[in-house]
Amino acid sequence: MSTNKTFTMIKPDAVANGYIGAILNDIIKDGFQIKAMKYIHLTESEAGSFYAIHKDRPFYSELVAFMTSGPIVAAILEKDNAVESFRTLIGATDPTKAAEGTIRSKYANSIEANAVHGSDSDANAEIEGNFFFSQFERF
Ligand code: PPS
Repeated sequence: MSTNKTFTMIKPDAVANGYIGAILNDIIKDGFQIKAMKYIHLTESEAGSFYAIHKDRPFYSELVAFMTSGPIVAAILEKDNAVESFRTLIGATDPTKAAEGTIRSKYANSIEANAVHGSDSDANAEIEGNFFFSQFERF
Protein backbone atom coordinates (compact mmCIF):
# COMPACT_ATOMS: atom_id res chain seq x y z
CA MET A 1 0.00 0.00 0.00
CA SER A 2 1.35 3.46 -0.87
CA THR A 3 1.60 6.23 1.72
CA ASN A 4 0.45 9.78 1.10
CA LYS A 5 3.79 11.61 1.52
CA THR A 6 6.72 12.36 -0.72
CA PHE A 7 9.83 14.51 -0.46
CA THR A 8 11.06 17.05 -3.01
CA MET A 9 13.85 19.54 -3.58
CA ILE A 10 13.74 22.43 -6.01
CA LYS A 11 17.34 22.18 -7.20
CA PRO A 12 19.95 24.99 -7.54
CA ASP A 13 19.36 25.45 -11.30
CA ALA A 14 15.63 26.09 -10.90
CA VAL A 15 16.19 28.37 -7.88
CA ALA A 16 18.84 30.38 -9.79
CA ASN A 17 16.57 30.63 -12.84
CA GLY A 18 13.73 32.11 -10.76
CA TYR A 19 11.36 29.14 -10.94
CA ILE A 20 10.57 28.56 -7.23
CA GLY A 21 7.17 30.24 -7.49
CA ALA A 22 6.18 28.60 -10.78
CA ILE A 23 7.19 25.13 -9.58
CA LEU A 24 5.38 25.48 -6.24
CA ASN A 25 2.32 26.70 -8.15
CA ASP A 26 2.41 23.59 -10.40
CA ILE A 27 2.76 21.37 -7.32
CA ILE A 28 -0.18 22.97 -5.48
CA LYS A 29 -2.36 23.05 -8.62
CA ASP A 30 -1.76 19.29 -8.96
CA GLY A 31 -3.36 18.77 -5.55
CA PHE A 32 -0.35 18.46 -3.25
CA GLN A 33 -0.33 20.05 0.20
CA ILE A 34 2.95 21.37 1.62
CA LYS A 35 3.53 19.74 5.01
CA ALA A 36 7.05 21.15 5.62
CA MET A 37 9.35 23.49 3.69
CA LYS A 38 12.77 25.15 4.02
CA TYR A 39 15.16 27.24 1.90
CA ILE A 40 18.76 26.16 2.49
CA HIS A 41 22.24 25.91 0.98
CA LEU A 42 23.51 22.35 1.47
CA THR A 43 27.09 21.73 2.58
CA GLU A 44 29.21 19.15 0.74
CA SER A 45 28.86 16.81 3.70
CA GLU A 46 25.06 17.14 3.78
CA ALA A 47 24.66 16.63 0.02
CA GLY A 48 27.14 13.72 0.13
CA SER A 49 25.10 12.03 2.85
CA PHE A 50 21.78 12.66 1.14
CA TYR A 51 23.02 11.13 -2.13
CA ALA A 52 25.11 8.36 -0.48
CA ILE A 53 22.80 5.83 -2.17
CA HIS A 54 24.45 6.92 -5.47
CA LYS A 55 28.05 6.98 -4.18
CA ASP A 56 29.23 4.25 -6.55
CA ARG A 57 27.73 5.86 -9.63
CA PRO A 58 30.08 7.74 -11.98
CA PHE A 59 28.29 11.07 -11.60
CA TYR A 60 28.25 11.12 -7.76
CA SER A 61 30.88 13.83 -7.22
CA GLU A 62 29.37 16.04 -9.97
CA LEU A 63 25.91 15.58 -8.44
CA VAL A 64 27.16 16.59 -4.99
CA ALA A 65 29.03 19.59 -6.44
CA PHE A 66 25.93 20.68 -8.34
CA MET A 67 23.61 20.30 -5.35
CA THR A 68 25.94 22.52 -3.27
CA SER A 69 26.33 25.16 -6.00
CA GLY A 70 23.45 27.28 -4.67
CA PRO A 71 20.41 27.26 -2.40
CA ILE A 72 17.57 24.77 -2.72
CA VAL A 73 14.00 24.48 -1.46
CA ALA A 74 13.25 21.23 0.39
CA ALA A 75 9.68 20.15 1.12
CA ILE A 76 7.47 17.31 2.30
CA LEU A 77 4.32 17.00 0.18
CA GLU A 78 1.06 15.19 0.81
CA LYS A 79 -1.43 13.71 -1.65
CA ASP A 80 -2.96 10.28 -2.23
CA ASN A 81 -0.38 7.99 -3.85
CA ALA A 82 2.13 10.85 -3.42
CA VAL A 83 5.38 9.24 -4.65
CA GLU A 84 3.98 7.99 -7.96
CA SER A 85 1.76 11.03 -8.52
CA PHE A 86 4.69 13.40 -7.96
CA ARG A 87 7.01 11.47 -10.28
CA THR A 88 4.34 11.73 -12.96
CA LEU A 89 4.09 15.50 -12.35
CA ILE A 90 7.86 16.05 -12.62
CA GLY A 91 8.53 13.74 -15.59
CA ALA A 92 11.59 11.66 -16.50
CA THR A 93 15.01 12.32 -14.88
CA ASP A 94 16.39 13.33 -18.29
CA PRO A 95 14.37 16.41 -19.32
CA THR A 96 14.76 15.56 -23.01
CA LYS A 97 12.68 12.45 -22.22
CA ALA A 98 10.19 14.18 -19.88
CA ALA A 99 6.59 14.31 -21.11
CA GLU A 100 5.29 17.66 -22.31
CA GLY A 101 3.81 19.79 -19.54
CA THR A 102 5.82 18.10 -16.76
CA ILE A 103 7.92 20.23 -14.43
CA ARG A 104 11.20 18.95 -15.85
CA SER A 105 10.07 19.48 -19.43
CA LYS A 106 9.25 23.10 -18.58
CA TYR A 107 12.04 24.12 -16.20
CA ALA A 108 14.99 21.67 -16.46
CA ASN A 109 18.18 21.97 -18.51
CA SER A 110 19.93 18.59 -18.27
CA ILE A 111 19.96 15.23 -16.47
CA GLU A 112 22.03 16.90 -13.71
CA ALA A 113 20.37 20.34 -13.64
CA ASN A 114 16.90 18.80 -13.76
CA ALA A 115 15.00 21.33 -11.65
CA VAL A 116 13.53 19.00 -9.02
CA HIS A 117 14.09 15.87 -7.00
CA GLY A 118 11.26 13.47 -6.19
CA SER A 119 11.51 10.43 -3.89
CA ASP A 120 11.48 7.11 -5.76
CA SER A 121 9.70 5.03 -3.08
CA ASP A 122 7.64 5.39 0.07
CA ALA A 123 10.58 4.15 2.14
CA ASN A 124 12.94 6.75 0.65
CA ALA A 125 10.31 9.50 1.03
CA GLU A 126 10.30 8.79 4.76
CA ILE A 127 14.11 8.68 5.00
CA GLU A 128 14.56 11.85 2.93
CA GLY A 129 11.88 13.83 4.81
CA ASN A 130 13.49 12.82 8.11
CA PHE A 131 16.92 13.86 6.78
CA PHE A 132 15.73 17.47 6.39
CA PHE A 133 12.95 18.00 8.92
CA SER A 134 12.48 17.41 12.65
CA GLN A 135 9.07 16.54 14.10
CA PHE A 136 8.66 20.24 15.07
CA GLU A 137 9.08 21.44 11.48
CA ARG A 138 6.22 19.54 9.87
CA PHE A 139 2.46 19.58 10.06
S1 PPS B 1 15.97 8.31 -10.19
O1 PPS B 1 15.09 9.46 -10.04
O2 PPS B 1 16.62 7.96 -8.91
O3 PPS B 1 15.26 7.17 -10.79
O4 PPS B 1 17.02 8.76 -11.25
P1 PPS B 1 18.48 8.25 -11.51
O5 PPS B 1 18.67 8.18 -12.97
O6 PPS B 1 18.74 7.01 -10.71
O7 PPS B 1 19.35 9.44 -10.97
C1 PPS B 1 19.54 9.67 -9.60
C2 PPS B 1 19.97 11.09 -9.38
O8 PPS B 1 21.20 11.34 -10.02
C3 PPS B 1 21.07 12.42 -10.95
N1 PPS B 1 21.78 12.06 -12.18
C4 PPS B 1 22.88 12.66 -12.60
N2 PPS B 1 23.56 13.70 -12.09
C5 PPS B 1 24.65 14.10 -12.81
N3 PPS B 1 25.06 13.54 -13.96
C6 PPS B 1 24.40 12.49 -14.47
N4 PPS B 1 24.83 11.93 -15.61
C7 PPS B 1 23.25 12.02 -13.79
N5 PPS B 1 22.37 11.02 -14.02
C8 PPS B 1 21.49 11.06 -13.00
C9 PPS B 1 19.60 12.60 -11.22
O9 PPS B 1 19.30 13.95 -11.47
C10 PPS B 1 18.99 12.11 -9.94
O10 PPS B 1 18.90 13.16 -8.98
P2 PPS B 1 17.67 13.21 -7.98
O11 PPS B 1 17.95 14.38 -7.10
O12 PPS B 1 17.67 11.90 -7.22
O13 PPS B 1 16.48 13.40 -8.82
